[in-house]
Amino acid sequence: MNTKKLNASPARPRSNGLLRFARSAAIFLRGFIEHPAMVASVVPSSQATIDAMLAKVDWDHCKLFVEYGPGVGTFTTRILDCLPPDGRLLAIDTNPRFVDFLRKTIDDPRFEAVLGSAADVESFVRASGHAHADYVISGLPFSSLPPQVADEIVAATYAVLRDGGAFMTYQFRPTARDLTQAHFQQVDTGLALFNVPPCVLAWGWKREPLSAREAAE
Ligand SMILES: C[S@@+](CC[C@H](N)C(=O)[O-])C[C@H]1O[C@@H](n2cnc3c(N)ncnc32)[C@H](O)[C@@H]1O
Repeated sequence: MNTKKLNASPARPRSNGLLRFARSAAIFLRGFIEHPAMVASVVPSSQATIDAMLAKVDWDHCKLFVEYGPGVGTFTTRILDCLPPDGRLLAIDTNPRFVDFLRKTIDDPRFEAVLGSAADVESFVRASGHAHADYVISGLPFSSLPPQVADEIVAATYAVLRDGGAFMTYQFRPTARDLTQAHFQQVDTGLALFNVPPCVLAWGWKREPLSAREAAE
């Protein structure tokens, strides 16, 4: 893991740590009670899961990081701690309560939270002034989504990534990993045991097939 980057330029939450933790726990629980299928968990991801997922990111080559389903920002603040000063983090969530909480509590010019579906990632990335994303991380409950929507999200993610970029997922069920394996040429997998409940991890690496001319060279 790149510990130098993990300790660099911490994101500045607007409220103090304990207060933010208490507020975020209450908002996350309320989000679950209101939309159990979309939030799909009463407890945010563990520190061990966050460390394992982010350990494969090459932060020196990250201009745009996209996060699907940030919730109350469990991964978000850690990503901002690692992101270079000229990097950007675009977080997309369908829950207005979560988006509002992130906008009010994270004070960082590199960060933007948008209300909408991950299915529209390509237009959100273009609207943010970028052609591609370097990394996309997903906390989406893929097994609760209609299968066609889940497949469209992974296809749109493949399209929006640069060559060499990665789609990273953590989910209690293997649905996200299986969808990643259906769309990406190279997939690394793992298991986070120190999570409630344990979850399946996957990193899908985009490798554009060589053109006929490149292959002949
Ligand atoms: C299990 S929570 C993950 C929260 C957080 N990332 C974590 O690890 O603790 C799932 C999140 O996905 C969001 N979500 C569900 N469907 C979505 C979609 N189609 N597009 C974007 N966000 C979505 C929910 O609102 C919720 O914030």
